[in-house]
Amino acid sequence: MPLLYDLDQMRRHYRELLDQKPADYFERLDPFLLDKRPLVVDVMERAFERLFPEPVRDLLDVGCGTCFYFPLLSRHAERLVGIDPCIPMLDLARELIAEKGLSNCDVRESSALDLPFDDESFDMVHSWDFLHHVPNPRRAASEIARVLRPGGRYLAVEPNLMNPAMVYYHATRRSEWGLFSKNQFSNVRIFRRHFDVSVHFDNAIISHVNERTKGLLRAIDAFTSVWPTRYLSFRYVMECTKKG
Ligand SMILES: C[S@@+](CC[C@H](N)C(=O)[O-])C[C@H]1O[C@@H](n2cnc3c(N)ncnc32)[C@H](O)[C@@H]1O
Repeated sequence: MPLLYDLDQMRRHYRELLDQKPADYFERLDPFLLDKRPLVVDVMERAFERLFPEPVRDLLDVGCGTCFYFPLLSRHAERLVGIDPCIPMLDLARELIAEKGLSNCDVRESSALDLPFDDESFDMVHSWDFLHHVPNPRRAASEIARVLRPGGRYLAVEPNLMNPAMVYYHATRRSEWGLFSKNQFSNVRIFRRHFDVSVHFDNAIISHVNERTKGLLRAIDAFTSVWPTRYLSFRYVMECTKKG
């Protein structure tokens, strides 16, 4: 089913995914993915070390889904709050938080288009695979800027449209077509209204990381570590610092 970028339809889409647990996609949303896939732990640990070189006091994760990465992300913050509009995702996230005893983590049902937080209440906002799903990135940008303290930062980790595998994957899954209308080119322009924006490239991928592909992924990482091939990396990271 194509995602229409309507909140109710989005909720229905993810509820069906979680009920049906399709073999090719449920693993990506499994809240206990890190327990089952040590190689993904390595990938995520290294990604968060790059993204969060300094500890953060109040960190907000928008579009947190099932929060499978919270056991690692929560080490970088004093307080980590996740928001997502899909209640079944949050039910799984709460199970994970309780089971792992993540006492500095909490999740709330909310849309990034209408954040239930006071102005200037977070030091950092993070999102992983969220921006290309959000119905209205302009509204998300202004809400994220509103809840950030002066000089606060927003880090968005997103699929890179210049990577052929990412284009193929998103073109062949109708529910992922949003990537093509909400991609890095328009997002950078949209976020510049509120933020100083820089983009860098990264190969932190979650799906298809296994013993068989590990060597290939390492080779791709080396190949894309230099200019000009780094533009072909699997992901781009939009790093935004609040203006003013
Ligand atoms: C591909 S999932 C990514 C979830 C999680 N960040 C991860 O990487 O596992 C995209 C998430 O964006 C959420 N989302 C979509 N529209 C949203 C909105 N308006 N506000 C907040 N989250 C939204 C969806 O509910 C979904 O959980």
